[in-house]
Amino acid sequence: MSVTEAFARVLSRSGGSSRAPTLDTSHNIVLYLEDISVSFDGFKALNSLNLYIEAGELRCIIGPNGAGKTTMMDVITGKTRPDEGSAWFGQTIDLLRLTEPEIAKAGIGRKFQKPTVFGSHTVFENLELAMAGDKSVWKILFARLRAEQIARIEEVLETIGLKDHRQVLAGGLSHGQKQWLEIGMLLMQDPELLLVDEPVAGMTPQETEHTAELLVGLAGKRSVVVVEHDMEFVRSIARTVTVLHQGSVLAEGSMQEVQNDPKVVEVYLGD
Ligand SMILES: Nc1ncnc2c1ncn2[C@@H]1O[C@H](COP(=O)(O)OP(=O)(O)OP(=O)(O)O)[C@@H](O)[C@H]1O
Ligand SMILES: [Mg+2]
Repeated sequence: MSVTEAFARVLSRSGGSSRAPTLDTSHNIVLYLEDISVSFDGFKALNSLNLYIEAGELRCIIGPNGAGKTTMMDVITGKTRPDEGSAWFGQTIDLLRLTEPEIAKAGIGRKFQKPTVFGSHTVFENLELAMAGDKSVWKILFARLRAEQIARIEEVLETIGLKDHRQVLAGGLSHGQKQWLEIGMLLMQDPELLLVDEPVAGMTPQETEHTAELLVGLAGKRSVVVVEHDMEFVRSIARTVTVLHQGSVLAEGSMQEVQNDPKVVEVYLGD
């Protein structure tokens, strides 16, 4: 990337709403997946999957191993192309026509299970880096952050609960803190839709509780889709729960409803 390009990128991001196509959620739906099928060597990982996510909602996706949960996220983010179906972001953005970076830029952030923070940089610098895209160029161009950018970083530090750790090297954070920092790095891009795959795996009970509060707090302003096996955690945050099984939706409803659904008990929740 040239310095001019980096400069343009930094400037375009500093305004907050910099995304290329504007997201149209006039029908209150942020994501449409319709009849999505994905095959791996003849095996249908997704089988005519339909999923609709409302603007501002917090959706939990559960289901047995191999149900297609991660594959679904791969389709939304452009990592995997479906054999069939359609995927729209709001009314106008056809996700199947965009590349992975274009989808990220359009406003879909994804958090992978393994946090990818920069261990030898501080928490603050990690957020700064996530905002700027290219640290070294950033440092050359702007030795000092503008007040609004500092305010944005401070806001995210507050959201993720790492205000008192801003000068700590990310490598020295606990597993849970690293996960929150990575969520913070995604928030620096101000996504409309945040996808989180198994956020509490490996966390202590306190960290899990904090993560629940964090994710609940993020919804409303944006949509959040959480895949998780930890049922106690899901119960603590769930509004609408979607149960995937063999690549399609088996059940959808409140935690109470899906929990008492005999089909769900049979394939997943029953012991
Ligand atoms: N790249 C791939 N090549 C071949 N098979 C794949 C590939 N990715 C996923 N699969 C298969 O597709 C199915 C769905 O996998 P996926 O990872 O989406 O499930 P999941 O619901 O996320 O499961 P888990 O709860 O274990 O994370 C599995 O049988 C998996 O082995
Ligand atoms: Mg998975």
